[in-house]
Amino acid sequence: MESGLILIFTFHLITLRGERVGRKRRKIIRRPVIKPFPKLFSCPICGQETVTVYHETNSESAKVICTNCGVCEEVKWYPAYAPVDAYADFYDKLTQGYTSLKLTNPHLTMVEEIHEDRAKLLEQASDNHSSEARVVSFVNYKGGVGKTTLAVEISAALAYHYNKKVLLIDADPQSNATFYLMEETMWENFAQQARTIKELFDAALRKDITELQHFDIRNIIVSDNLRVHDYTKNLHLIPSHLDLYEIDIELARMLGKGAHSLMILWQAIRNIKADYDYIIIDCPPNMYLVTQNAIVASDGVIITLLPEYLSRIGIALIVRMIDDINQKMMQHASIFGGQFKSTRVMGIIFNRVRYGAHGILSDQSYNIQEVRKKYGDLVFNTLIRESVRIAQRPLQRIPISISGYQQDRQYEESIREVAREFLKRFEENEI
Ligand SMILES: Nc1ncnc2c1ncn2[C@@H]1O[C@H](COP(=O)(O)OP(=O)(O)OP(=O)(O)O)[C@@H](O)[C@H]1O
Ligand SMILES: [Mg+2]
Repeated sequence: MESGLILIFTFHLITLRGERVGRKRRKIIRRPVIKPFPKLFSCPICGQETVTVYHETNSESAKVICTNCGVCEEVKWYPAYAPVDAYADFYDKLTQGYTSLKLTNPHLTMVEEIHEDRAKLLEQASDNHSSEARVVSFVNYKGGVGKTTLAVEISAALAYHYNKKVLLIDADPQSNATFYLMEETMWENFAQQARTIKELFDAALRKDITELQHFDIRNIIVSDNLRVHDYTKNLHLIPSHLDLYEIDIELARMLGKGAHSLMILWQAIRNIKADYDYIIIDCPPNMYLVTQNAIVASDGVIITLLPEYLSRIGIALIVRMIDDINQKMMQHASIFGGQFKSTRVMGIIFNRVRYGAHGILSDQSYNIQEVRKKYGDLVFNTLIRESVRIAQRPLQRIPISISGYQQDRQYEESIREVAREFLKRFEENEI
């Protein structure tokens, strides 16, 4: 009898707990947590598939933005309201004769400002189209100083905010720039189809180097289907391969062929220079032969560094190495058909600058001042702050400089500033 009572009591408890748990679960499922809604819609204004509906957790409204023409709107969000309905609302308003929508939310006003800025910048950019790409390598033999982050972010900013056609070449076997923009599964497909930068160097090793002109580098360019292409079609990528690290060893064996082994990249990109405004090369953290190839192929080099003592004293070494490469190539200018131009250091960018209550931390500030004293205008005015949001960015495959997220705004601005300085250096100096 007693055990019967206990059984009934336990059964009730289980039922009660089950119901409670069940109710709790349903509640969680109903809470709107979609951000961003991953589907893209066509914009009723510009017709591009660049309308994104997204929503911040715990807010009661969703945001609808066309990243192409900048139209945006806030729509009320209810738990039962699907993102597709949010888009339908937006579409209705626009097709009922609104040409611009009054924005009610300060967050959205900021988004509108960004788009206004962008329209101005695009206007300026269209005056400035260059006939042949400038080639720029991001170099430092030290690791973890922001070569990849800034190569990718500046490339995206040039493509999106300044309407430049940009090819980003990932020349680092770590393939960080590749995975900044490309899903791993997509990369696997490209690697299987032999469509990475490794193919170029493999071809150079297999053949007589002078036959390289038969290698069509266009076959390894990714010009579509990256997430970044929802924002801009102007950014293309040549992915890297993890096995590229073996190439340096093989290239070293080829050194018997002298300057030829440093001309592989120069030769390969010659034919596509007319297709782009900028070709940006993300280099590995060393000065071996792949990096030297990138330097030879480049008009200019950007050195990224941390505001630390060891980084600071490393600049002189990098500059000297670039001078050595220039001198070596000058001696062989005839094999470039007289076209070899020496590569210039075009800028030094400080990354991961840390701020305390009274501005930049004093030891970092001291290092920055010392570098400014020695290298003057070569140092970019814009400093890139240390930020967790920058560190998390590659996971999203959307560079911070174009994401449009409110939380990214401060960093988006500083990257856009760096990109503006970058353009100024190359376009005013006619490099
Ligand atoms: N401003 C920043 N704030 C915070 N983290 C950053 C910042 N810039 C870069 N990082 C992070 O620091 C790490 C190194 O950056 P990055 O990969 O760009 O350097 P790198 O010079 O290309 O490195 P490597 O030489 O290994 O290729 C990355 O995890 C990156 O996300
Ligand atoms: Mg890197």
